[in-house]
Amino acid sequence: MTDLKSSLGEAVGAAFAAEGVDASLARVTTSDRPDLADFQSNGALAAAKALKANPRELAGRVAERLQADPRLALVEVAGPGFINFKLTGAALAERAATVAADGERAGADAVATPRRVIIDYAGPNVAKPMHVGHLRSSIIGESLKRLFRFRGDTVWGDAHFGDWGFQMGLLIVAVGDEGGAAGFMTEGDGPFPGEAPVTLEDLERLYPAAATRAKDDIEFRDRARKATAELQAGRPGYRALWAHFVAVSRTALEREFGALGVTFDLWNGESDADPVMAGMIADLETKGLLVEDDGARVVHVARPGETRKRKLPDGSVMEAPSPPPLLVISRDGSAMYGTTDLATIVDRRKAIDPELILYVVDERQAEHFEQVFRAAILAGYATPGSLEHLGFGTMNGPDGKPFKTRAGGVLKLHDLITMATDKARARLQESGLGADLPPEEFEAIAHKVAIAALKFADLSNSRTTSYVFDLDRFMSFEGKTGPYLLYQAVRIKSLLRKAAEQGATPATIVVAEPAERDLALTLDAFDQAVSDAYDKRAPHLLAEHAYRLAQAFSKFYAACPVLVAPDADSRGSRIALSQAALDQLELTLGLLGIDTPERM
Ligand code: ARG
Repeated sequence: MTDLKSSLGEAVGAAFAAEGVDASLARVTTSDRPDLADFQSNGALAAAKALKANPRELAGRVAERLQADPRLALVEVAGPGFINFKLTGAALAERAATVAADGERAGADAVATPRRVIIDYAGPNVAKPMHVGHLRSSIIGESLKRLFRFRGDTVWGDAHFGDWGFQMGLLIVAVGDEGGAAGFMTEGDGPFPGEAPVTLEDLERLYPAAATRAKDDIEFRDRARKATAELQAGRPGYRALWAHFVAVSRTALEREFGALGVTFDLWNGESDADPVMAGMIADLETKGLLVEDDGARVVHVARPGETRKRKLPDGSVMEAPSPPPLLVISRDGSAMYGTTDLATIVDRRKAIDPELILYVVDERQAEHFEQVFRAAILAGYATPGSLEHLGFGTMNGPDGKPFKTRAGGVLKLHDLITMATDKARARLQESGLGADLPPEEFEAIAHKVAIAALKFADLSNSRTTSYVFDLDRFMSFEGKTGPYLLYQAVRIKSLLRKAAEQGATPATIVVAEPAERDLALTLDAFDQAVSDAYDKRAPHLLAEHAYRLAQAFSKFYAACPVLVAPDADSRGSRIALSQAALDQLELTLGLLGIDTPERM
């Protein structure tokens, strides 16, 4: 890391080491008292205990060694043995200049050893409407994809399209029953119609009806099961019809994801693992991992002694393995969700050989992934630590349950975006923003504000917490919201435009005023925020940084006039600082998947 905090940390570590203290105890943190210091180290307290020394004395000796550091304006022992550090304006200015000159990286380092990483996110299903779990996965996964790429990894975002399950058989039977797809129902090799016999509306109408019907209508369900098995076994007419379902769904989904600013490098489906399935099952068999269980075939994944109490239908309680075995082949011979996930690992290894696969999927699927990962490691398809499930909480309605529309249905992504854009338009108008802009530009801005509101509201929460959907709050131009951040970014853009019009240009950065110090320190903190967000797979740390930066800029702008600065040098310096703040803010928002308009 090249940030000031880390390089100061190294110096402090060396000073502790010279006093015979383990340098790892010498952590430097942001000061609890920004009015007194920029950073502090509490290392002497912990170290003194270990050395049976007096903490204040030890701190004093360490401080003495650091007095000569030219970056430090102040090194001071406080309280029982804290060491406070204040940087010189020159050190801050130099760092801010480095950040300003760092172009695309804005002061953040890349990883030393890039990896090949697949991020499996969104996971929409053919014909089934997306729910809020898919929305959160899309937003979080997109941000992680951008963050990992920014850190230097080679990243593939994969939508892992749900195109191989029972819903496919249901659709085949439902479409067949309506009579619209007679050309696909024959058993031969075709040829089959090249035109889709269904539209997206047909799929959206037929699937829910078929799913409901299959609950009570046994004959219908059995036909759908049979159709699923025949499809998977390769019946040509069904495959041709299925390919139309997939294409129709995918076109619509790509449009919706596009509106959300979410794009994938791979649109592989569960079905893409089909070619490796038979080989994998034979391999599991050879390795002795596939065992018979009540007519089905499973892989045991719990280690001896890993059990939990399970209630049986008759009310008795037994100790059952935990996690439960992975169901590989069901009693009626079909591949299951876990089977396709396992085969997808095999397939990905063949095609890409990733060092890491991240699965951004609802926390409620935690057990499923535990089963799949354990099976993959047992079978030697993956190494421990190379598969990670990144679960997340739900987006809830005011009732605390997963968000539903007023009609009680799942919210469609398209409707959500429309609703948010309507609200954004109204808010912009109320605030008198964009009134003088051409209508198309105003529309584009309303769309960006809407997306920023939705994404920032999601990403500013830590991944695992659930949050309540509250469009009014998300869309406010005040507080910790996407619209506030866009507004701040646009304000800096307009300031810089005015400066350019007046012929004022950036100059050497000078850091003198407290608000300038604070802004420089915030610019410095980006490196750490990025690496922490990456290590913890935690975009909210980026959201936090964006907010802090916007606030630091806002205070700076209020305290330090830019266009009417006291002299040309400080005006040039402040323009350069503003530009650096804007670049880093836009970059951070970009890592969250949020686009900034030019004006509003
Ligand atoms: N299609 C699944 C669902 O809707 C999500 C897929 C997640 N990814 C995976 N590799 N299982 O629940």
